[in-house]
Amino acid sequence: MAHYLVTGGCGFIGSHLADRLIGDGHRVTILDDMSTGRLENKPLLAKLVVGDVADPDAVHQAIQGVDGVFHLAAVASVQRSRELWAETHRTNLSGTVTVFEAARSARNGTPVPVVYASSAAVYGDNTATPLREDAATRPLSAYGVDKLGCELHANVAWAIHGVPTTGFRFFNVYGPRQDPSSPYSGVISIFARRVAQGEDVTIFGDGEQVRDFVFVGDVVRFLVKAMERRPQGAEVFNLCTGRPTSLLMLLEVLQELCASRVRRLHQPARAGDIRVSIGDPARLRATFGEGCRFGLLQGLSATLTGEMPR
Ligand code: NAD
Ligand code: UD1
Repeated sequence: MAHYLVTGGCGFIGSHLADRLIGDGHRVTILDDMSTGRLENKPLLAKLVVGDVADPDAVHQAIQGVDGVFHLAAVASVQRSRELWAETHRTNLSGTVTVFEAARSARNGTPVPVVYASSAAVYGDNTATPLREDAATRPLSAYGVDKLGCELHANVAWAIHGVPTTGFRFFNVYGPRQDPSSPYSGVISIFARRVAQGEDVTIFGDGEQVRDFVFVGDVVRFLVKAMERRPQGAEVFNLCTGRPTSLLMLLEVLQELCASRVRRLHQPARAGDIRVSIGDPARLRATFGEGCRFGLLQGLSATLTGEMPR
């Protein structure tokens, strides 16, 4: 049994991870400021420290004695990073540096490994398809720049301070518990709820933008595998399926599953929005011996019912 710190553990991805770790018999401490996280997401057996990941005192308090850190706390909305540039930068980049710094001496003065969330947003307007990890990074948003900054600081964490890290460039993650209630939420959570209720959906742009949608159950499996494998150096992997889905295709599948037709309202494309985002999962597969297991149909069905598939 190990003891892990999960930052952002009351959020969408972090809470599924915390469930899995507790289910595997580990001890879990969560550090979350509850800005988008929810108390009902917290596993009963997890300890919650309410605090800011960019506050060194809060991080030091939460990290003491852990065997490893899963760092997921961030403002996950690209749109939000446009509106609240400096504020999201503080959480998304300074917060990560604060976690890396605290990880230097978390266990009896020695470093512990950190598995953290980067993002496909680091590729920005690079039009290569599929995107490999060695493709040029050209982020378009403050969010993407900060995630790239996390990866660069991870190099420092290892080379200068001996903190081993594994970063995952998550593509578009979806699944049960993703909050549909704000315009900043992931598109699948918003569309799933609206189609199920027979309400109009808003499409920013023509709807032909393409994403690589990854089910949260796959994300959790790779996060855990990365910690079990022990991070080595400062590695970065795409976490993706390699399969393209346009927003219009997504809407079609959701309408089929819900046996419902809804109206599409179009608004101008969002500034800094990426047109095509498809990852190459080859490095992920080669290193971890498998790729993503869940297909879009299975993942969307689970999202609609709210039940996690086994
Ligand atoms: P989420 O908003 O559900 O979870 C983020 C959690 O971090 C929330 O519980 C929130 O309260 C917490 N948090 C935010 N600011 C904080 C702060 N200053 N201090 C402490 N806690 C704070 O989002 P998510 O989709 O679960 O995202 C998890 C991670 O994955 C984030 O790092 C995000 O950038 C990254 N990511 C998500 C996606 C996706 O498609 N959902 C894709 C790429 C990367
Ligand atoms: C998402 C993640 C981000 C992650 C990135 C990695 C969220 C909120 N954001 O960003 O954390 O780093 O993937 O690839 O999960 N759209 C509509 N109508 C809507 C909502 C969205 O048309 O009601 C469009 C957007 O303009 C965009 C696409 O759907 O073109 C996807 O948007 P969104 O789910 O917000 O994700 P990304 O911006 O791709």
